[in-house]
Amino acid sequence: MIKKCLFPAAGYGTRFLPATKAMPKEMLPILTKPLIQYGVEEAKEAGCSIMAIITGRGKRAITDHFDISYELEHQIKGTSKENLLKEIRALIENCTFTYTRQNEMKGLGDAILKGEPLIGNEPFGVILADDLCVNSRGESVLKQMVKLYNKYQCSIVAIEEVEKDEVYKYGIIEATEIEKDIFMVKDMVEKPDIDKAPSNLAIIGRYILSNDIFKILKDTKPGKNGEIQITDALKEQTKQGKVIAYKFKGKRFDCGNVDGFVEATNYFYNQKI
Ligand code: G1P
Repeated sequence: MIKKCLFPAAGYGTRFLPATKAMPKEMLPILTKPLIQYGVEEAKEAGCSIMAIITGRGKRAITDHFDISYELEHQIKGTSKENLLKEIRALIENCTFTYTRQNEMKGLGDAILKGEPLIGNEPFGVILADDLCVNSRGESVLKQMVKLYNKYQCSIVAIEEVEKDEVYKYGIIEATEIEKDIFMVKDMVEKPDIDKAPSNLAIIGRYILSNDIFKILKDTKPGKNGEIQITDALKEQTKQGKVIAYKFKGKRFDCGNVDGFVEATNYFYNQKI
């Protein structure tokens, strides 16, 4: 059972300045819902009830968002607006939110390692909220991955095919397909140059990690861009034949950049009308 999901949310979001100067990028809304709430809803649908959020300075709005606002609720009680808080109230009532801070920006691997006290000794999911995933029919991406975990009992990364000239933005895998859309990973490299990429299969922001990842991360040296990379720690796990990549069903929007963000906004708006 995967009960906990970790959300690295300490990054600065510089691509969205000035909007992110005093506001966490995870709170940017697609229509009326902040990005991180989409992620938490996905984790809950996948069966997680404990959300472990790695925050940093200037991220207080995230903690407040996942808490009751008595004054506001009092104000809108009995009006048509009350309904607008229904979804977030359901999350607050049914999930536990835990927090710790990543004090220095030392990479995604470091952010995940900071979550160890919140996760303890069990496998866990990871959602990068700026990769917004939707599956209009059927199960969320994390839920699809939890099912796979139950079968394979090892770390799993979600992947999608990207254009060759985009590989420099992602962790890229080298792998063999063992079942339709399921790959055994042999190697992986963080943000390779186009001519060094072993494939065009890119890791997107959904992971299930077996607990030994923490031990490996403690020994992982800074890699690409001088940061501790989760890709390098997962690469260690591949040596024991223990990482699966999964070409998920659904669509992913890269809301970490303006184009993807606008695309997601249009998609959700068109769903509504
Ligand atoms: C991170 C990971 C990368 C992965 C990507 C998915 O990079 O380091 O391996 O492909 O997330 O969104 P970032 O986008 O944080 O630079």
